[in-house]
Formats: sequence, structure tokens, C-alpha cells
Amino acid sequence: MKATFTLLCFGAALLAIGSCADPVHDLQVKALGGEAPNIPAGDYHRAGQPCTTCHGQYGPATKQFAIGGTIFHGPDKAIGEEGVRVEMIDATGSQRNATTNCVGNFFVPTSDWDPAYPVLVMIRKGAIGRTMNSHIGREGSCNQCHKDPPSFDSPGHISLVPNEDNAPPPQDCPVSPVASLPGAR
Ligand code: HEC
Ligand code: HEC
Repeated sequence: MKATFTLLCFGAALLAIGSCADPVHDLQVKALGGEAPNIPAGDYHRAGQPCTTCHGQYGPATKQFAIGGTIFHGPDKAIGEEGVRVEMIDATGSQRNATTNCVGNFFVPTSDWDPAYPVLVMIRKGAIGRTMNSHIGREGSCNQCHKDPPSFDSPGHISLVPNEDNAPPPQDCPVSPVASLPGAR
């Protein structure tokens, strides 16, 4: 395992100097901690976390995302909202839509889109649509800005409905659709 890591670092260092030797990036990854119990690395993991910190050019995930994040049901509890369409449009008018899974996660792989920033975004499900009024300047992780608790420097996690209404969590989700988000109300 350790030998593989060293080899990977060496290979990556040949391609992009510093990939494995960026202490700030390493700390950012480490600060996110290990995988949650019973949720393997994959589509359902790390709801609420900044996906592109790891799914970016410096790894450690191999699959790179242009944009990724999590949509929750309400503003207080961290219950994933399934089937939300995330509509994104870049500075050239290029558009992508992604749909959330049952923990609320969605992503657009870099192999599918290399957006020209700024990017505008809105979310939609059924009759509900919410638009982010400001644009995204260059941050690929929605959850990097949308952190709990809401404060002067964060709007809090993204939610479909503006007020918590005790809707039941999605059924038939292979993992718990309720994230343990530090700071969620
Ligand atoms: C702390 C690092 C980290 C964060 C944060 C993270 N991931 Fe991952 N993710 C990984 C690693 C490591 C793997 C293992 C597979 C790999 O190398 O791509 C993985 C795997 C995946 C896979 C499977 C990839 C494949 O090869 O098919 C998906 C999908 C995924 N993550 C989605 C997400 C989403 C969505 C988010 C944000 C809500 C996220 N991840 C946040 C590290 C992370
Ligand atoms: C650079 C920081 C930043 C990033 C990245 C970001 N947001 Fe936002 N978002 C904000 C801020 C600040 C607000 C509140 C003001 C506004 O609407 O612009 C907001 C508001 C929103 C709203 C409106 C909420 C409401 O009150 O109606 C939605 C929906 C939203 N964001 C979704 C997203 C999605 C989806 C992504 C990722 C594709 C994302 N945001 C990425 C900072 C960010």
C-alpha cells in the first residue's frame, strides 16, 4: 500500500510538479477525515463535503470532477434530497444538468465538462426551483462555500425547501440518507 502510494506520487510528480508534495492540499484532505462507517467510497459517500478537494487534479481520488456537491431537503437537518436537477451554465453558454442521488450527491466529471467560469446555477425539483443569485467564480465544490453552520461567510448547506418541514428521508437508499454534518442545526 505504502509502496503503491510512493510510486503513484512519483508518477504524478513527473506530470505535475508538486502533486504529492503540496502540504496545504494534504492538510485539506486530512481535515475531512476517513470514510463514514458503512458508506464505502463511491456515489453515496461524504455527503456535504467539498468533493473536488479530493476529486481534483491533486487527488487522492482518481476520478476528477469539474463540479460536485450535495443538496439536502431542508436548511436545518442534513437529509439528502433525491432527484433534484442541478442546472449549470458557464460563461460561454455551455450547459450541464446533473441529478442528485438519494443522499443528495451529484457531480459532473471533468471528462464530461470543462466549464469556462463564471458558472451560474439553479436547482429544481417538481414545482420548486431555487437560483443562486451570485455566480461561481472558480470553486468546483458547492460544499466548499455551503458549509454549516450558516454564518457571515457561509450560506449553510444547500437545501431544496427554505423551511424545514419534516419530510421523511428517501426510502430504499443503500446507505443512510442522513449525513452527520458538523454544525448542522
Ligand atoms: C476526502 C477525499 C474525498 C472527498 C471529500 C470525496 N471523495 Fe469521492 N472518492 C474518494 C476516493 C479516494 C475514492 C476512491 C476511488 C477513486 O480513486 O476515485 C472516491 C470515489 C468516489 C466515487 C467513485 C469513483 C469511480 O471511480 O467510479 C464517486 C462517484 C465519488 N467518490 C463521489 C464523491 C462525491 C459526490 C463527493 C462529494 C459529495 C466526494 N466523492 C467526496 C475521495 C473523496
Ligand atoms: C463561491 C461560493 C459558492 C459556491 C462554490 C456555490 N455557492 Fe451557492 N451560494 C453561495 C452564496 C454566498 C449564496 C447566497 C447568496 C446568493 O444566492 O447568491 C448561495 C446561494 C445558493 C442557492 C440559493 C439558496 C436560496 O436561498 O434560495 C442555491 C440553490 C445554491 N447556492 C446552490 C449552489 C450549488 C448547486 C452549487 C454548486 C454547483 C453552489 N451553490 C456553489 C455561495 C456559493
